[in-house]
Amino acid sequence: MAKTTVSVIKADVGSLVGHHTVPEPLLRIAREELRRAREEGLINSYYVFNAGDDLELLMVHRRGEGNPEIHRLAWETFRKAAEKSRSLKLYAAGQDILKTAFSGNVKGMGPGVAEMEFEERPSDPVMVFAMDKTEPGAFNYPLFRAFADPFNTAGLIIDPAMAGGFKFEVFDLMESKKIVLKCPEEMYELLALIGSPGRYVVSRIWRASDDMVCASTSTTKLSLIAGKYVGKDDPVCVVRAQHGLPAVGEILAPFMHSYFVEGWMRGSHWGPLMPVGLKDSRCTVFDGPPRLVGLGFQVCEGAIASDDSGDPMVVDLFEDVAFDLARREAMEYMAVLRRMGEFEPARLAHDAMEYTTLPKVLERLKDRFRPA
Ligand code: F6R
Ligand code: MG
Ligand code: MG
Repeated sequence: MAKTTVSVIKADVGSLVGHHTVPEPLLRIAREELRRAREEGLINSYYVFNAGDDLELLMVHRRGEGNPEIHRLAWETFRKAAEKSRSLKLYAAGQDILKTAFSGNVKGMGPGVAEMEFEERPSDPVMVFAMDKTEPGAFNYPLFRAFADPFNTAGLIIDPAMAGGFKFEVFDLMESKKIVLKCPEEMYELLALIGSPGRYVVSRIWRASDDMVCASTSTTKLSLIAGKYVGKDDPVCVVRAQHGLPAVGEILAPFMHSYFVEGWMRGSHWGPLMPVGLKDSRCTVFDGPPRLVGLGFQVCEGAIASDDSGDPMVVDLFEDVAFDLARREAMEYMAVLRRMGEFEPARLAHDAMEYTTLPKVLERLKDRFRPA
């Protein structure tokens, strides 16, 4: 049977009023480009949205992961949106278009990518998550909770189909290496790595009993591509749920509380992650706090299941009062951290600041230091 691919490709191509949000003219360009691609049969469904200042393209198709035509479609869409952005003098227009010549895959060129190809089950619920003002490792914690922590996911105990546990692929961003660790047997080793989310990133998860793929995240580290600070990487993630995988509600349960991620103002601070509905997908206070949006849909014959008028049925997962507690916590933590100003641990540890613009400031003091 032909497989289905869910591709989420995103880029910050400029935003309205600082690094705040993606305005309608840019979203419209993206919808227009993807609508045309659907008419031409390249993709079967799409949904355009934003996570703060990031333009997010959700595409469902039959062409597999890393497909050059799908990547070109995303690349050209971002280029057109960046052009519009420049013409409107939006802020940081074209920010994530780090390279100019497209070579078949947007990975390593600025945009972030999470893709998953799979054989559709009789019913296959899919969730897509996107964060702004943080980095890929920000998904480590909720993915660990959902797929490895029996205090979060009842199915790990109750559902025999999950008894074999899950395998986690972890990227070492600094050394460009990866490793696969299996839970529950190697849970301690997994935590030893992914507890440092600035370096180790959960990139993929499979059900161990049959190697069924069930999660995929973006692993781009922009500063390592550009060789300098160019904003945080604002990651995306695709997850499948239910029927022998964690339930939708088990995957959402880690977001009942806020937790801390690196990023926020100037990519240089710890901040509380705030799950929000799409209507609140914008960054304000201290360029944040870092935000998370989540969408859910059913895949159906290589497409997103659609309503009678052909519109994809996509639900806004965090547009719900059940996440008010996490939002309230995020606001309280935000106030605590901001009272500390530029003192650690509000600001990132000194070695993490190497990837920000701080070293340029310190450079000016270099010659004034005397032996002590
Ligand atoms: C974080 C981010 C913003 C900017 C900040 C300063 O990822 O993009 O917090 O770092 O607004 O931006 P500039 O230097 O463009 O004024
Ligand atoms: Mg930006
Ligand atoms: Mg962003």
